[in-house]
Amino acid sequence: MNIGILGLGTVGGGVVNVLTKNQAEIMRRTGAQIQITHAAIRDIKQSRICSTDGIQLTQDPFEIVNNDSIDIVLELIGGTTLAKELVEVAIKNGKHVITANKALIAIHGNELLTLAKDNNTHLLFEASVAGGIPILKSLEQGLSANQIEMVAGIINGTGNFILSEMCDKSRDFDNVLKEAQELGYAEADPTFDVEGIDAAHKLTILSAIAFGCELQFDKVSTEGISEISDEDMIFATELGYSIKHLGIAKKLDGKIQMRVHPTLIPKTKLLANVNGVMNAVLVKGNAVGPTLYYGAGAGDEATASAVIADLIDVIKNTVSNDTLGWHSLKAMPYQNQDDIESIFYLRLLAADKPGVLADITAIFVNNNISVEAVMQKQIDEQDNAHIAIITNQVKTSDINTAAAEIQKHSSIQEKIKIIHVETLD
Ligand code: NDP
Ligand code: HSE
Repeated sequence: MNIGILGLGTVGGGVVNVLTKNQAEIMRRTGAQIQITHAAIRDIKQSRICSTDGIQLTQDPFEIVNNDSIDIVLELIGGTTLAKELVEVAIKNGKHVITANKALIAIHGNELLTLAKDNNTHLLFEASVAGGIPILKSLEQGLSANQIEMVAGIINGTGNFILSEMCDKSRDFDNVLKEAQELGYAEADPTFDVEGIDAAHKLTILSAIAFGCELQFDKVSTEGISEISDEDMIFATELGYSIKHLGIAKKLDGKIQMRVHPTLIPKTKLLANVNGVMNAVLVKGNAVGPTLYYGAGAGDEATASAVIADLIDVIKNTVSNDTLGWHSLKAMPYQNQDDIESIFYLRLLAADKPGVLADITAIFVNNNISVEAVMQKQIDEQDNAHIAIITNQVKTSDINTAAAEIQKHSSIQEKIKIIHVETLD
């Protein structure tokens, strides 16, 4: 088996390093000596985290996907334009493809999986979700007896690293993001991490594998972490919660819901205690109940672990000519975001005058919303106060209507903050 690799950056370099250091163990498991023979990079002179000894380097990635001697292509360049073209050519040339590229699979996965099936090749993407955690294999193999009811996870390492450092060490957002970039965690465009796009790509893939629905990235409702303030962190802590950036997918009454947003999670829950670059995914199956998967969500060798696991599957599987990776994904109805029921946290900055809380409460009552907890903090000499409110389970449309009405109240000083609360029960 000759293997060509597209990209020798964080993940590509990690793959070469792990294959080198674990050669004997991989040989024991597969009976095969796995060696990268060719690699495509942009800059020949750039220093690398891995040795390139014995690897034929090229600056033209098409040389690899068109090379008849190469059987398996690892796409570790990223992006959805050149990467898509390269994957298509590789598949049409009869090569198996392994990728860590969640954007590519979330957006073009339906057609690429069909192309792979039509060309009798494998297209595998374990590393595309939650870095080193073998979550797709867990869903496809270990949990295959279950109907999956819910998948909820911290699935972006950069975002969790930023939130953890801000919360635990009071570090500045931009400063932590810079460190995440230096550590190789962040996407080429880090707004993908910060604004939840990367997590939405991953949730799209998780939902497809969990529920068997088509990859539908445009059905994910997505909100990032850039609007979370110190006040929210403090209120959350005092109310007994952690704020995490969660991807949640559920199948309820035959309809799929997919959402990525900051979420208050009770501190007693395991997911609330997942910090730094670590990811964790909670999966509820109708037979097994809740199960939790935890591990590094980004980084060179952790991600390489998942890429190489796919490589080993392809090598073993090619021999048996099995059909690993051919998913029969079906169109399924999606739940309207307005109809989703959730508990909510609202934070208002209001003039602390008599009757304000009574007015707010009346608006809640008019919109069928009952309140679970209220906390108030006076913040300045003008008698302005932050008021944090936790609701009971309500419809998203009701909370949005109520918040819009409260926003118009003369006492309200700034835009009302609304954050989902999940008990994960
Ligand atoms: P990097 O930017 O570190 O690496 C990209 C590599 O692709 C570089 O070696 C670069 O070459 C090469 N490359 C880019 N464009 C071209 C081109 N036109 N021709 C040839 N080579 C090219 O990215 P990552 O390794 O971080 O990410 C790769 C993929 O893995 C992405 O899809 C990402 O989303 C995904 N991923 C990343 C994780 C991580 O922790 N970083 C974790 C999970 C998935 P050169 O080095 O010369 O610039
Ligand atoms: N940028 C991604 C993250 C890489 O931080 O989670 C892993 O997919």
